[in-house]
Amino acid sequence: MDNAAPIAESGSVNIIVACDENRLIGRNGRLPWRIREDWLWFMRNIEGGACVIGRVCYEAMLGGGHVNEKRRYYVVSRDESLAGEHTEVFSSTAEALAAARASGRPVWICGGVSIYGECLPLADRLYLTQVHHTFEGDAWMPDWSGHFGKEIFRRDSSDSKYSYSFIVMDRF
Ligand SMILES: NC(=O)c1ccc[n+]([C@@H]2O[C@H](COP(=O)([O-])OP(=O)(O)OC[C@H]3O[C@@H](n4cnc5c(N)ncnc54)[C@H](OP(=O)(O)O)[C@@H]3O)[C@@H](O)[C@H]2O)c1
Repeated sequence: MDNAAPIAESGSVNIIVACDENRLIGRNGRLPWRIREDWLWFMRNIEGGACVIGRVCYEAMLGGGHVNEKRRYYVVSRDESLAGEHTEVFSSTAEALAAARASGRPVWICGGVSIYGECLPLADRLYLTQVHHTFEGDAWMPDWSGHFGKEIFRRDSSDSKYSYSFIVMDRF
């Protein structure tokens, strides 16, 4: 397999998530780990895309200074005041997904938990970072094994603390 991740096509729906060995994804509203290579993988993949994202995750992007012309955000929230130049707000995942699809950009499902769950049956592809470690936390990715399993890309990597694999899967 090639070393570069498969490109997401315009209009395709792609879930992107990093999980530990128990499908853990979060702790206290943040990631349970700091893995620079995975953060870069995430940011590079979603660049130019239409990001469907929950309010907590969006606020983390906002706080990190990542809400700008590089991506469009389709935020699921009751808080309409989050809308802005690069951001639209929707009261349901279905509405956010429809608007993201209509943009013609590749759609990236960026979480959290409930949005991942709703999109698993609908998405075309799963971009998974599997962190080969177990952490403490409070948010888990729903089980994808009934939807995705056809591996089309894998790259194993590590930093000084953890080993992890970048995996891309299509639907069965
Ligand atoms: N490892 C990863 O790849 C990854 C990816 C994403 C998230 N995470 C982690 O997961 C945790 C966040 O999870 P979360 O699930 O709490 O965050 P979230 O989905 O970003 O935010 C939850 C809020 O978003 C809105 N929302 C989400 N789903 C909705 C739905 N189906 N219908 C209506 N509104 C909805 C609601 O906003 P309002 O209250 O404003 O109405 C809800 O309170 C954090 O720890 C984060 O770091 C990890």
